Amino acid sequence: MQSVEQIYDHLKAKLGNFNADFELWHKAQLAYQINELKAERNAVILGHNYMEPALFHSVPDFVGDSLELSRKAAETDKDIIVFCGVEFMAETAKILNPDKTVLIPSSKAGCSLAASITAADVRQLKRQYPGVPVVGYINTYADVKAELDVCCTSGNAAAVVESFGSDTIIFLPDEYLARNVAEETGKHIVFPTMNPQNTVATDTTLDYQLIGWHGRCEVHDKFTVEDIENIRTEYPEVVILAHPECSPEVVSASDFSGSTSAMIRYVRHIQAPHYLLLTECAMGDNIAAENPNAEMLRLCSVRCPHMNQIQLEDTLNALKHTQYVVDVPEDIRVRALGAVERMLAIG
Ligand code: 13P
Ligand code: SF4
Repeated sequence: MQSVEQIYDHLKAKLGNFNADFELWHKAQLAYQINELKAERNAVILGHNYMEPALFHSVPDFVGDSLELSRKAAETDKDIIVFCGVEFMAETAKILNPDKTVLIPSSKAGCSLAASITAADVRQLKRQYPGVPVVGYINTYADVKAELDVCCTSGNAAAVVESFGSDTIIFLPDEYLARNVAEETGKHIVFPTMNPQNTVATDTTLDYQLIGWHGRCEVHDKFTVEDIENIRTEYPEVVILAHPECSPEVVSASDFSGSTSAMIRYVRHIQAPHYLLLTECAMGDNIAAENPNAEMLRLCSVRCPHMNQIQLEDTLNALKHTQYVVDVPEDIRVRALGAVERMLAIG
């Protein structure tokens, strides 16, 4: 196990340009205690790409996007999974690992997309469109996943939609991701009005369509085409990367769109004088720390208030006090597992 000094040296090399020495030393001490407890309790720590830089660059055994971390959660043989991410991600780890203890370091790490739809909403849509396959973004809670045919993430959404023979698919709950997937797969998209009588839809234009929902990510909804135009005027050679939770207008005005890990790989492999990331801001800091020569432009500090709940202190308390335990009722878990496993099988 690394000593406090070794962790400090590592953090200093990565984050010395952004953080004061005393702060890095304090973080190194916290990380050391976390690593000690992690070994003692036979735990694994999974860290989403949006974790704040000191956490991202110290304690996780694996970092990645939602799809990569779901795969790591499915593979682990540790007794405890500490999920440094948001609740729907930790729930997915629990769905895959019913016999393990899954912890999330904050009880307040929600997600505006996951909160935008309920299991009752999905059941009503299924009544309106009987027999139409339902694809749901991983950013949903377990009871919603239990109603789905298959899950997807931003890393595989188009592949999951295309894996169906059906020309008509319900795609929930992110309006922008659905519009972006429709664009990529050549489908028309409609947003149905909920049918209070619960009767079958009389829509006769259900030909080669995605049926969407009006959920939005409160972070990615902030970026506009005007932001892009302003940056391009000032920095004509900038390369702009947008997460597919941004609007289709923003995505098509950008140079690349992909999952958080796909954006990281893009910056690693494509040389450009400047990069602008249209996503959660901590990820820009994490990329800058890994690629000191890449100049990352900032629009402003757009942070996900949910991801931001999780810091090293919370992660230490999670392992010290076994908090916050993530549980999924068994009947829901079993049904949700099918949707998650089908996603992992598609890739
Ligand atoms: P990724 O699957 O691309 O990591 O995205 C998760 C997320 O919540 C983005 O806002
Ligand atoms: Fe949810 Fe948006 Fe935060 Fe991702 S960035 S966790 S989609 S609120």
